[in-house]
Amino acid sequence: MHPMLNIAVRAARAAGNLIARNIGQQGQFSVEEKKKDDLVTDIDRECERTVISVLQRSYRDHAFLGEESGLTGNAESEFQWVIDPIDGTTNFVQGIGHCAVSIALKRAGKTEVAVVFDPMMNEMFTAARGEGASLNGRRIRVASRTSLEGALICTAFPVRYRERMGAYLELFSNLIDHCADIRRTGCASLDLCYVACGRFDGYLEQGLKAWDFAAGELIVREAGGLVTDYTGTPGYVKSGNILCGNPNVVRALLNVCNPQELPAILR
Ligand code: IPD
Ligand code: CA
Ligand code: CA
Repeated sequence: MHPMLNIAVRAARAAGNLIARNIGQQGQFSVEEKKKDDLVTDIDRECERTVISVLQRSYRDHAFLGEESGLTGNAESEFQWVIDPIDGTTNFVQGIGHCAVSIALKRAGKTEVAVVFDPMMNEMFTAARGEGASLNGRRIRVASRTSLEGALICTAFPVRYRERMGAYLELFSNLIDHCADIRRTGCASLDLCYVACGRFDGYLEQGLKAWDFAAGELIVREAGGLVTDYTGTPGYVKSGNILCGNPNVVRALLNVCNPQELPAILR
């Protein structure tokens, strides 16, 4: 295994143990609202400290971009670790065991290694650039479906961008007409990984942050999937509007999106 991936796996496991020990223990951890309906717990913060401290033991002069602590470490470094300590905080707070630790390493802006760990399922999704993607050490591939017929698609409601809800619901209604069914799980990094291993045929969401998708994006690409924005370009890096699947499913999803008619979600 790529040595940096090895360290990332160690960090994800350490934070994952904290999640597993605390999930379902409502009342034992603090919950705050960062913004309306955007939660953080002291376990999120502890997980982030744990991940950074494990990484820092091996890589003292790298930079760290964590959801909860922002940019720390050596801001000049060409190596930057992007960390979501608990992706799926709302699930965690509600005692729903579907959340993950997400860690990606970027070098000069390019993602080199990625880890998404689901501690409740003990599932470790990993990828290294050019070396493929794995789940618990076994190679994974995106599903081979050729159209949306029979497809299981994952998505999310734009609850943090309520002004886009009308346009999104139009898209949703188009989508449900074309595929078999739709899921909303509450954990973007696992949504991406589930596409990577073929559990979902495709996934689309708007307004994700770098820590939500940095690791999952590499895992999907290394599993043979495509990741684009709603117009078929890499604009998601800025907008966070992400759409993915195998090339056929991406093409079909882009048709359903019909961005000309949905300007509200193109930004
Ligand atoms: C959220 C989850 C959720 C997605 C949101 C994210 P958080 O991350 O990934 O599935 O729909 O857009 O912000 O806040 O739980 O780390
Ligand atoms: Ca997140
Ligand atoms: Ca988070």
